[in-house]
Amino acid sequence: MIDLRSDTVTRPTAAMREAMANAEVGDDVFGDDPTVNALEAEVAARLGKEAAVLVPSGTAANQIALLVHCRPGDDVIVGEGAHQMCGESGGGGALAGVQFTVSGRGGFFTAAEVAAAIHPRDPHYPSTRLVSLENTHNRSGGHVWPLPQLYGVAETARAHGLALHLDGARLFNAEIASGHSAAEIAAPFDTVSVCLSKGLGAPIGSLLAGPRELIQRARRYRKMLGGGMRQAGIVAAAGRYALVHHVARLAEDHANAQRLAQLLAEAPHVTLPTVETNIVMVDLAASAPAVDSLLGRARERGLLVTQMGSRRLRLVTHLDVDRAACERAASILFDLLRT
Ligand SMILES: Cc1ncc(COP(=O)(O)O)c(C=O)c1O
Repeated sequence: MIDLRSDTVTRPTAAMREAMANAEVGDDVFGDDPTVNALEAEVAARLGKEAAVLVPSGTAANQIALLVHCRPGDDVIVGEGAHQMCGESGGGGALAGVQFTVSGRGGFFTAAEVAAAIHPRDPHYPSTRLVSLENTHNRSGGHVWPLPQLYGVAETARAHGLALHLDGARLFNAEIASGHSAAEIAAPFDTVSVCLSKGLGAPIGSLLAGPRELIQRARRYRKMLGGGMRQAGIVAAAGRYALVHHVARLAEDHANAQRLAQLLAEAPHVTLPTVETNIVMVDLAASAPAVDSLLGRARERGLLVTQMGSRRLRLVTHLDVDRAACERAASILFDLLRT
């Protein structure tokens, strides 16, 4: 099977498994796990933040960020299709009790748009508390925030006294694609979430980084939500390995995505939004075969892709698919679209 459903489908490499097997561990809920402590310090340093906490998933990191920044009834400004709003089982409402206001189009917004989305300070309105950006933005097709636009939005949010969170599930893809370091991209934000289990190829784990005092409070919410893990060094070792060995190679995933897009652009009945990182979106015209049958026939031919919306497919490149697999995937889809 060529599995392009997501960059979360990777399996740990032999070297990563060896690092996990040899990890020194302790009880992390007591703060005793040296490998977790090292990972948290390394990620904090890499993001230019005071502290970081290891949590089980990107969802946990994003939800804990809402809990540390907001109170029930608060409003959070996000872009269209934000994972924190659309992809976390309604956790924002259920756990932190927040509501969302969507700004801009396609996941991106400007300083003027964020200013326009802030509610008046009047008891009729929810209190706008937080602006949350996603970089890279998943549902837009892995697009990267231009740094001046991101800084402009952050400056406006700050001028209005708002807190800032960055959903950096794929922040290292943004780093590699833009040439700006993760710390530069993260600089204007109070808190930043990053995932080890997406393009970086680790099996489990995300971190929330930020000021020491906020991260201390985040540890309490992690425990409350059942995310306090014991000998988590086994997991942290995979993350530490990934940060050393699997960041620079994201450039290969990006190049493979470009190749896939180049081949698919020639296929009938499709248009493709620009590819900037490891996500390729394929929009199907009304004349294309029905999505259900397309996905079923692709599976029979050994290709797995995701349906996003009624006529859009998503293909994601990662550590476990090489150039040849991507070319094969394009040729399978091409054939199916022709028939
Ligand atoms: C942008 C973004 N944020 C957060 C998450 C949540 O990560 P997890 O699946 O580890 O909960 C995802 C997952 O795909 C994502 O794409």
